[in-house]
Amino acid sequence: MHALVVHGGAGIASGAAKAQQRACALALECGWKILAGGGSALDSVVAAVELMEDEPTLNAGYGSCLTEDGTVELDAAVMDGCERRAGAVALVRRLRHPVRAARLLLEEGRHVFLAGEAVETFAAARGMPLVDSATLVTPARRDAWAARQRAADASVGEAASIDATLSEAADERDPGEDGAGTVGAVAFDVGCHVAAATSTGGISGKRAGRIGDSPIIGAGTLADDRAGAVSATGDGEAIIRATVASVALEILRSGVGPERAAEVALAELTRVGGTGGLIVVDRFGRVAAAHTTPRMTWASRCA
Ligand code: GLY
Repeated sequence: MHALVVHGGAGIASGAAKAQQRACALALECGWKILAGGGSALDSVVAAVELMEDEPTLNAGYGSCLTEDGTVELDAAVMDGCERRAGAVALVRRLRHPVRAARLLLEEGRHVFLAGEAVETFAAARGMPLVDSATLVTPARRDAWAARQRAADASVGEAASIDATLSEAADERDPGEDGAGTVGAVAFDVGCHVAAATSTGGISGKRAGRIGDSPIIGAGTLADDRAGAVSATGDGEAIIRATVASVALEILRSGVGPERAAEVALAELTRVGGTGGLIVVDRFGRVAAAHTTPRMTWASRCA
């Protein structure tokens, strides 16, 4: 038996929903081929997430949302449920596939978490191409950032002008607003191993240097063969405070199914004032996806 779930983020209704759903379907197919061919859960989740990092309407890799300074700072993590090996990277500016750097870190096994230029130095030394940060920014993200700037500038003007500009900014709101569009995958392979991977541009207009939940093991990403695997999406700060993935895995470990685990983890997220969603696979290959937001893009397959 094997199983795979992918998500393209939880959030508000988005004009890009169809493209995001299509990207999830392609990522599922890509990861599924690996599992169906006897490949590992780890290979499957990394391949699925890499594909979604290339999708411009998703908030990861190419198409990530921008900081308040108009820059990209990407976070990603991957975890293998077998021996709980993990790799996490944050504040990445020049890698199109941060999840691949996280995987390299996991393989090396020396450190779990690297941030900033150190990630790029590490990845480049292992053959990953460094790109110009500007090539990760889509025109839609640039426009959304400019609208946000105009709204901020207007806040020193007349009240009527503020209202008009804010409403324009809302119209141009990009799919990465409030963390939506983060991507992730969880898998269960024929060897009964689980894995999880998550990648994100974070939240629009974040302070430079801010790190969200996605690369935090136990918050946005977690895998353990004795329980299951989780990838979360939504309000990063609240997901960290609620330790969402950790809560879900504790429930799974107690023998309860993935739907209930997702429900309890989201209740904890709500309790600390956050919104979001998560995907779960348990140690038997059973899957669940749940969210407190109006929508979450996801897809799953089991056999
Ligand atoms: N959930 C993505 C973030 O807050 O960074």
